[in-house]
Amino acid sequence: MSDTDARVHAQYEAYPYPARDPRDEAKRLITGSPSHLDEIRHYVFAGRLDLSKPFRALVAGGGTGDAAIMLAQQLADAGAADAEVVHLDISSASHGIAMKRAEARGLTNLRFADGPIERVAEIAPGSYDYIDCCGVLHHLDSPEAGLKALAGVLKPEGGMGLMVYGTLGRTGVYPVQEALAQLSDHLGEKERVALAKRLVAGLSKTHWLKRNPFVGDHLTGGDAGLYDLLLHPRDRAYRVDEFAGFVASGGLAIRSWIEPARYDPDTYLSDPGLRKAASGLDPVARAALAERLSGAMAKHIVYALPAGRADLPVPDPGADGAVLVLRDLDPVAVAKGLSGGVLKADLGGAPWQAPLPAIAPAIVARLDGRRMVADIRDQLKPGDPTRFADHVRATFAAFHAINRMLVRAVH
Ligand SMILES: C[S@@+](CC[C@H](N)C(=O)[O-])C[C@H]1O[C@@H](n2cnc3c(N)ncnc32)[C@H](O)[C@@H]1O
Repeated sequence: MSDTDARVHAQYEAYPYPARDPRDEAKRLITGSPSHLDEIRHYVFAGRLDLSKPFRALVAGGGTGDAAIMLAQQLADAGAADAEVVHLDISSASHGIAMKRAEARGLTNLRFADGPIERVAEIAPGSYDYIDCCGVLHHLDSPEAGLKALAGVLKPEGGMGLMVYGTLGRTGVYPVQEALAQLSDHLGEKERVALAKRLVAGLSKTHWLKRNPFVGDHLTGGDAGLYDLLLHPRDRAYRVDEFAGFVASGGLAIRSWIEPARYDPDTYLSDPGLRKAASGLDPVARAALAERLSGAMAKHIVYALPAGRADLPVPDPGADGAVLVLRDLDPVAVAKGLSGGVLKADLGGAPWQAPLPAIAPAIVARLDGRRMVADIRDQLKPGDPTRFADHVRATFAAFHAINRMLVRAVH
């Protein structure tokens, strides 16, 4: 183990990340991207994940358990009788918290494996239908070797959810990390935190860290958040094109950036001439342009498939047998809030909107995650079934752009 590896290990033993209290499991389930079961079904399995069959997921560098707990709970709720989530980490303190969270929920579909990603093939041998690696690869000595190790235990018909830091959205972080390294390298973990707090408090209000609203772990994440953001012994960030190259280096193809609209230059361009100029760019170049125009991307989340699955068809949300779901939203409440024929969102400070057909509220109100599109059509009795299918597609396109509507199943 290198000195830096030892320091990374010591950090996560002293400050398991993110800070979590197992007692809070009684109050709420933390959900997010990647690895929400509805996202996995849509992005990785195109709506065709059969949970009556065995399903194995690996959460690599799972920390205090957010993704593993979310996925294990969602699999249990979905009645997946033969599903297992393996939580792999180097930090026994993090394992301890994740285990207590699982206990608090009575989850029996989680298993814990102790050791580094680089040795996953011996510590938690594959093969996995799905692998989560969120906020970890950018801390490894060789992110490429880590990704390859994970790809080596992924089923050819599986997929991954990945998150790495974004360079532009983390403006201001790295100069402060470097300053703290200059001043605190000889100190122990706790002294470093105290010194970092004093240094941050004294920064001028014009320093980029203070002006950047897209990083806040040092303000809201407790000492673990402050350490992770500003004192980490090893972290790097990626621009969109670097990340795309990195994903490809693991033999993977990006299925989708999350949320898709953030990576669409049209979100940031209203001038028709500029939109036209951007329209000729290839998909990665368009996403890279969006990153430049946004400035808000402090992290990049993607779903990625083995390159051999890159041509997996995208499910048709207008098909009779499609079951659509609003991710973590109450359909009736959302339908009530829709007005003016548009869906609006704020994407890192960029105002975004998409048109909705007049029938959208009636469709949305019925998306309970069980009804098929054909059932909804039978209830609404629209005149023309072909036009209805197009209205469903338009409604889906609007919500899906912000990752709020997904194809849960295709019958
Ligand atoms: C920033 S935390 C992310 C935790 C979790 N994935 C999340 O998003 O909440 C990074 C985690 O990766 C773990 N880690 C760091 N290097 C690792 C390695 N080489 N193999 C396995 N886990 C590692 C750390 O112990 C820590 O729990």
